[in-house]
Amino acid sequence: LTTLISATFSGAALAENLTVGFSQVGSESGWRAAETTVAKSEAAKRGITLKIADGQQKQENQIKAVRSFIAQGVDAIFIAPVVQTGWEPVLEEAKDAKIPVFLLDRAITVKDKSLYMAVVTADNVYEGKLIGDWLVKDIGNKPCNVVELQGTVGASVAIDRKKGFADAIAGHSNIKIIRSQSGDFTRSKGKEVMESFIKAENNGKNICMVYAHNDDMAIGAIQAIKEAGLKPGKDILTGSIDGVPDIYRAMLAGEANANVELTPNMAGPAFDALEKFRKDGTMPPKIIKTESRLYLQPEAQSQLDKKKGMGY
Ligand code: AHR
Repeated sequence: LTTLISATFSGAALAENLTVGFSQVGSESGWRAAETTVAKSEAAKRGITLKIADGQQKQENQIKAVRSFIAQGVDAIFIAPVVQTGWEPVLEEAKDAKIPVFLLDRAITVKDKSLYMAVVTADNVYEGKLIGDWLVKDIGNKPCNVVELQGTVGASVAIDRKKGFADAIAGHSNIKIIRSQSGDFTRSKGKEVMESFIKAENNGKNICMVYAHNDDMAIGAIQAIKEAGLKPGKDILTGSIDGVPDIYRAMLAGEANANVELTPNMAGPAFDALEKFRKDGTMPPKIIKTESRLYLQPEAQSQLDKKKGMGY
């Protein structure tokens, strides 16, 4: 299989003067904007021309962008796939055109894995589990009603982060997810959905923790909690994923509790793999895994300092 894919994709061109088309999800979150910024600087560092298409969180726009990249004859295509399914036809077209495809930060489900070279992603189940494990430890035997702000419906990261958290709290009957809804990974939707949770749950008094699949939704939720006259980080605990500067600022203010950092540098490892492949045909591992770590309030300042120059 490896030989077949190498033969299909291997080109004579060297890594110089490459053109890569990047079908980005959109600009729904601070993390997403940082990922785009880092992709540009990683491309510039290597002298690669990067063409970015903003999918505005719609798969149909992303598919159109991929088709246009194929028509332009780019050397490789990066896709941050908004949802997990429905990619086969366009990936077949890329394969027929002998253009290697790399997936950034989200995974897809396809029967034929040779439709893409590699996916650069964190272990998103593990990320959800880190937050769940933290809560289990932090709350001890006390009862805790959790509300969950899910990411975009059908996105691999939303599915995986939900599972990881659920796995971690399973068997701890004092912790219950009482409401769960999508906030589409945006600050405004996160706030809106949290407001409805608060209204439905005795003005928030029944809620012990909000688990948000990303920081932007958590920040929206924090705003909603404050507007309801409650103290985020104390009356209602928070746990979220990304590591954007604003969440560390909220942690420093005591308004957010637990955070898992996700690197915005997804393009760098994909460029490395692409260059290697072009040079000597080396096939990258199917999953290029990025690191995920949990940070709590005492580490917020150093994390905030670290973020400077990381695309934020
Ligand atoms: O796929 C990564 C997720 O997408 C980030 O956690 C979130 O902020 C973004 O929208």
